[in-house]
Amino acid sequence: MINQERFSLYALFVLLVVTCGGLIFGYHTAVISGILSDLNTAFSLSTFDQGFLVSIVLLGGLIGSFFGGALADRFGRKKILIITALIYCAGAVIQAASHSYPELLLGRFLTGIGIGLTSVVGPLYLAEVAPPDFRGAFVSTYQLMLTAGILIAYAVDFLLEGKGNWQLVFYIALIPAVLQLIALFFIPETPGWLMRHSGVKRAEQSLDELREDNEWKEHIGEMEAVAAPKKKGRLKLLLKPHLKRLIVIGVLLSIFQQITGINTIIYYAPKIFSGAGENISLLITLYIGVANFLFTFLSVFLIDKLGRRFFLLLGVSAMIVGQLLLILGENIPSLGITGVFIYIFGFAIGLGPITWVLLSEIYPLRIRGKAMGLAIFANWVFNYIVSLTFLMLIEYFGLGKTFMLYGFISLLCLLFIYFYIPETKGKSLEDIELLASKGDL
Ligand code: BGC
Repeated sequence: MINQERFSLYALFVLLVVTCGGLIFGYHTAVISGILSDLNTAFSLSTFDQGFLVSIVLLGGLIGSFFGGALADRFGRKKILIITALIYCAGAVIQAASHSYPELLLGRFLTGIGIGLTSVVGPLYLAEVAPPDFRGAFVSTYQLMLTAGILIAYAVDFLLEGKGNWQLVFYIALIPAVLQLIALFFIPETPGWLMRHSGVKRAEQSLDELREDNEWKEHIGEMEAVAAPKKKGRLKLLLKPHLKRLIVIGVLLSIFQQITGINTIIYYAPKIFSGAGENISLLITLYIGVANFLFTFLSVFLIDKLGRRFFLLLGVSAMIVGQLLLILGENIPSLGITGVFIYIFGFAIGLGPITWVLLSEIYPLRIRGKAMGLAIFANWVFNYIVSLTFLMLIEYFGLGKTFMLYGFISLLCLLFIYFYIPETKGKSLEDIELLASKGDL
C-alpha cells in the first residue's frame, strides 16, 4: 500500500499543456463535416472527394499511432510531443492557406499524423507524470479536452456554416497549436522514461517538480527496479504469455471503443437528424457536443474513487439502453433523440475516457509505448472502418437495423469488460507491473 502523493501546481500546468493535444485532436476530427459545403463551393468537390477529405485525417491517425509509441520509447515522450505540436502548426497553416484540393488533403493528412501521435503519446505521458491516486483523473482530462475540442468544432461549424469563411476554421486551430508548442519546452520528460534512459537522478528531479510532497521517495526503489535500463524493450517481449494476454485485452478494448459506434454519432449526427432540417440538426449536434463534454467530468472527478470497472460497466450498459431507444425510436424522433443522449452519457463516462486510462497503465514501462501504439493503431483502423461503412449500412439496412448491430456489439463489449478488464484504481504503475508479471492483473 502506498501513501497518497499530491501533485504540485506545476503538474497542473503540465496537465493543461499536454491535454491541449487532445483539444486539437477533437477539433480537427469533428470540424470538417460542418464546412464541407463551403469547401465544395471553393473547390467543386465530388462526393468521393468529400468523403476522402473527411477520412484522410483518420489515415494520418493510423500512421501517427503506428509509429508514435515506438518513437516515444526511443526518443522520449516530450520530444515526440514537441514534434506533434510542430506538425499541428504546419497542418493548420497548409489547410488554411490551400489553393487547391490536393493542398487541402496534404494539410489534413499531416494533421491526422499529429492526431495519431498525440493519441498515443498524450495519455502515455499523463499516466507517467500523475501520482497513482490521480492517474485516472489526469488521463481522463485528456478525453475531457478532446470532447472540448469536438464541442468547439461544432460551435464553429454552427456559427460559420455557409459563410464561405472556411480558412478561419483552420486558423482557429493554429492558436492552441502555437501556444502548446511554446509551452511544451517548459514541461519535464516523464520520470519513468528518465529512469530508464537517463538515470535515477534525472527521474528524481522530474518527480520533485511534479509532486507537492516527498511521498514519492518511499517507492523510488520500485521505480528503479521496473525501469531496468539494461533490458531492452524489444518487440519479442510483447510475446511473453502474460504480456500477450494484456496486449489482447488492450487491443480489444481499444477496438470496442470504436465498433460500439461512437463516431457514427460524433461524425454523422447532422446526417442522422437531417430530417429535422439543417439548422435544427446542427443545433442537436451542438447539444450532443455539450453533453459529451459535460458528462466526461463525472469520470474525471470520480474515476479514482469509484474505479475503472464501475464506470466501464455502467457506461456500456447505458450505451445499450440508448441504442435500444434509438432502434425503437427510428420513427419517433423524441425517443430517438433521448436514446442518443443516453448513449452519449454512457460513452462519456465509460469507454471514452477509460479506454485511454487503462491503455496507459496496464503495460510495463519497457514496452509501454509500443504496446499502447499497437492498441491505439487498432483503434484508428476500426474508427476508419466504422466511418467508412456507416453511411452504406444505413442506406442498405436503415438506421434501426444498423444500430441493432452496434447494440449487439455493445452487449459483447459489456461481457468482455465484466470478464477480462482488471481494476487498476489507486495502484502505482510499478505495482500494476508487478501484478501483471505474476499473472495476477
Ligand atoms: C474516441 C474518438 C471519439 C471521441 C468522442 C474518443 O475517445 O477515440 O474516436 O470521436 O472519443 O468523444
